[in-house]
Amino acid sequence: CGIVGIIGKENATDVLVQGLEKLEYRGYDSAGIFVTDKDRQEHLVKSLGRIADLQNKLNPEIQGTIGIGHTRWATHGKPSERNAHPHTSSNQRFILVHNGVIENFEEIKQEFLQNKQLEGETDTEIVVYLIEYFSNIGMTTKEAFKKSLSVIKGSYAFALIDKHNPEMIYVAKNKSPLLIGLGDNFNVICSDAMAMLTETNHFVEIADGEMVIVKADKIEIEDQKGNLVYRESYEAQLDLSDIEKGTYPYYMLKEIDDQPTVMRRVVQEYTDSFGETVINQEIIDHVTDSDRIYIIACGTSYNAGWVGKAIIEKMTNTPVEVHLSSEFGYNMPLLSEKPFFIFLSQSGETADSRQVLVQANEFSYPSLTLTNVAGSTLSREADYTLLLHAGPEIAVASTKAYTAQIAVLAVLAKAVGDHKGNQSSLDFDIAHELSVIAAVMETMIDEKMVISQLVEDYLATTRNAFYIGRGVDYYVSMEASLKLKEISYIQAEGFAAGELKHGTIALIEEGTPVFGVVTDKKTAAHTRGNLKEVESRGAHNFVISLQSLAKETDQVIIPDVHPLLTPLVSIIPTQLIAYFATLQRGYDVDKPRNLAKSVTVE
Ligand code: G6P
Repeated sequence: CGIVGIIGKENATDVLVQGLEKLEYRGYDSAGIFVTDKDRQEHLVKSLGRIADLQNKLNPEIQGTIGIGHTRWATHGKPSERNAHPHTSSNQRFILVHNGVIENFEEIKQEFLQNKQLEGETDTEIVVYLIEYFSNIGMTTKEAFKKSLSVIKGSYAFALIDKHNPEMIYVAKNKSPLLIGLGDNFNVICSDAMAMLTETNHFVEIADGEMVIVKADKIEIEDQKGNLVYRESYEAQLDLSDIEKGTYPYYMLKEIDDQPTVMRRVVQEYTDSFGETVINQEIIDHVTDSDRIYIIACGTSYNAGWVGKAIIEKMTNTPVEVHLSSEFGYNMPLLSEKPFFIFLSQSGETADSRQVLVQANEFSYPSLTLTNVAGSTLSREADYTLLLHAGPEIAVASTKAYTAQIAVLAVLAKAVGDHKGNQSSLDFDIAHELSVIAAVMETMIDEKMVISQLVEDYLATTRNAFYIGRGVDYYVSMEASLKLKEISYIQAEGFAAGELKHGTIALIEEGTPVFGVVTDKKTAAHTRGNLKEVESRGAHNFVISLQSLAKETDQVIIPDVHPLLTPLVSIIPTQLIAYFATLQRGYDVDKPRNLAKSVTVE
């Protein structure tokens, strides 16, 4: 979910709506705003669906000088106008928006709100009723808000308006992201700096457990004990043009096209003019010293982790395990004696990953976050950070962050391998190899029309599809199928080519599309054998292969690159396949149903 707020500007509605548009990647099943002013003209507008649907319900009279807004990714209660935020207390006095999950909402209901009839099904509504409850027994709004915070268990970012005093917004956070943006006689609130860049690029971070009173001309931060806290603002290193899609029809296509530039940027940021890696020596020492690396991630980042494992093990000889955050946290495997944790997260905010980091920190295990977002939660809470330098990724389906994660992990592997004096690493000229990758990516991106045609013929109407490969080609197949299913809704599976015949081959029917990824000399013949097996059972095969391993009949042929880095290029046609399949099936490429880009609940 995404939160915005503003105080002290005439056109509060416009600022809130443009902010929510920027935050739509965080959720887009319903949205709402509340605006008011000193004369107490009050407007609460909510809508099911996208921000555009909310906009359709607004008219020029709906303006104010103070307001809050929210775009939702449903957790408790299905998407509906009633469950959309902002939520109102029963006496209509308090208005609240919330991002996160209240864990003890049932207990709160039992203890404080037994005789209240709640309107919707959300945990947030309980909180605004709780604030009202404490206010009704004589507390000031600030006291009622603070008291409620002390009762609540869970993750939250809140923004609260008291209609009786529309001169301030009450704000608090715990685990969920929230920033205050500073303006000239106005201030703003947002889940992500991106949302308010049109208004300011000076932001103040809020720590977990703090409460802030935001007024037009000042902010007052209080810690849990009630002490005032002074905190410097920082300047957001974001450029508005980075977050516009320009002439592109969709962010995803822009982000696919960005990848060669991102590869060159990784080279620029992490290698010197001699082609040597530039990585904080402390990180290298920790990794060198550890006996096992644990990569923790979700979704696309998890898939990137598998490719990272292959590269790191080859260069450093240190074993690597890759784990899904949501499993690892509650089912922790036996750890080695000297573990080193690497968190992969585009957003740096994923709650599933964060809960593992919290545990790693409890044991004081050394940790590193690879993220695209400087200052994100996972970055702040890990010992070290390596930034992806991919530029903002807005499409929900991740593309450039995936390739950037692999590239940065390769740089790290090279740095550690060199430090250990491993020959495989010393022989690997990473700056050169990544430059080759950038050029080959460009070639693949230029193949757009070939891919579009391929898709039109075979994916426009299919119910399911498979990607198969072995080794790194299997890891790419996992990501390729995730891309396809998350945006085109084709039921897609990424499979280890050799394993298919042990069960899943039963799903192959006449015309089922099967994509084979063939970039590894050792396994090429076997994967081609598996493709034959499915073909003879009716599958329609497509082969994505490396030039040196290609057959004339292969549909997509990729110029050769370093064997360890093939995923960086073989993934490109699969991203384009997902993109064109989605277009041709008539769905929204950037905002697939049910998903959100940054999932800040466990
Ligand atoms: C969400 C997104 C996925 C993403 C995953 C992990 O579920 O929809 O596209 O891969 O989170 O996100 P992270 O920001 O941690 O890489």
